[in-house]
Amino acid sequence: MQVPGRPSGAPPSGAYRTMTTRFDSSCSIADISRNNPAMGANKIKKKTKKSRPVITDRHILYEGAVQEVEADLDFMKRVFRRRHKRPLRLIREDFCGTAKLTAEWISQHPDNRAIGVDFDQPTLDWGIRHHFAPLGDIRKRARLICDDVRAVSGPPVDAIAAFNFSYFIFKERDALRNYYRHARSCLKKGGMLFMDAFGGTQSMTTNHEYRDISGARMPDGTKIPKYVYEWEHRNFDVITNHILCHIHFELHDGTRIEKAFTYDWRLWTLPEMQELLLEAGFSKAEVYIHGWQPDGEADSVFRLRKHYDNEEGWIAYVVGVK
Ligand SMILES: C[S@@+](CC[C@H](N)C(=O)[O-])C[C@H]1O[C@@H](n2cnc3c(N)ncnc32)[C@H](O)[C@@H]1O
Repeated sequence: MQVPGRPSGAPPSGAYRTMTTRFDSSCSIADISRNNPAMGANKIKKKTKKSRPVITDRHILYEGAVQEVEADLDFMKRVFRRRHKRPLRLIREDFCGTAKLTAEWISQHPDNRAIGVDFDQPTLDWGIRHHFAPLGDIRKRARLICDDVRAVSGPPVDAIAAFNFSYFIFKERDALRNYYRHARSCLKKGGMLFMDAFGGTQSMTTNHEYRDISGARMPDGTKIPKYVYEWEHRNFDVITNHILCHIHFELHDGTRIEKAFTYDWRLWTLPEMQELLLEAGFSKAEVYIHGWQPDGEADSVFRLRKHYDNEEGWIAYVVGVK
C-alpha cells in the first residue's frame, strides 16, 4: 500500500500528486554517433528513435502503481516482533491476487513460509508465471490456493495479510464479522490479522485522481515507460457507504486502458472495523496511521494511535490480535 499526499484526497493507493500535464510523447533522441567502428571511420549514423515498449498488461501496471509489498511486510515484521519478541515466519496472504507479497515474503528469508489465497485462478496463474517461476526452489516455500478466503483453513499461521482493501467486498456487518471470525480461527494464539484502510473527507465523494508512475519495473526488472494511474470514485452512497471505484491507465503512447479494475465496495470506517474485530473474538483491535511532513506529504511512519484528526485523505493499518 502506498500513502497519500495531504492535498490530494483519499484514493487508496496514495502518494498522489494531482497530475497537471499529460505526457509529451516525443522522445526525441536524434543523436549523431561519430566514428562508429561498425560503420567505418568517420561515417555518421543518425540513431533511430528508441521505441519504448507499450505495456498493456493490467497486472504489471497495477503492481507498478499500487503495491508496495516490501513496506507492508516491514510493517508486519515490526509489529509482530514487538509483541512476540520473535520474528514472523509463517504468513497467509488473503485476497492475494498475483501473490506478489507472498513471493516477496518467501524470498526474504530461508525460514519464511507463506500461503496465498484467491478465488481467481487466472490471476493466480499470472502470479505463478511472473513471480514464482523465476524463484526456482524457493517457490516450494509457498502454497497458492484457489478458493474463497472464508473456506480455507489449514495449519494455523502467525499472521494474515488482507491488503489493498480487499475485505471491502463484504458489505454487511455479518459478512465482515464472519470473515474476521474465520481469519481468527486460522491464526495461532497471539496471531495477527493485518489490513489496510483508507478514509478522509475526500474519500466520501465522487472524484478522480491522477498519478504519474515513473521508475516502475516489471517483475523481470525491465523498466516500464512512464504512465498515468487514475483512481476514480464513480459513486459514493452516504446511506450505505457503498463506493464504486475504477482504476484506469494511460500509457506513454496515449493508449488508454479504461476500467482496468473495478471495485464495488463498502467503505468501512475505523470504528466499525475495530468493533467487528472485537465482536469476532479478537482480543485487541489496533489502528496505526502515518503522520505528515511539513510539505503536506504523508511521512510513511505508521504509529499506533487512539486519536487522529481527520484530513482530506489518509491510509491506516488495522490489526486484530488473537
Ligand atoms: C483488490 S485485489 C487485491 C490484490 C492484492 N492483495 C493487492 O494487495 O493488491 C482483490 C483480490 O481479491 C480476490 N477476491 C475477492 N473476493 C474473494 C474471496 N471471497 N475469496 C478469495 N479471493 C477473493 C479477487 O479475485 C482479487 O484478486
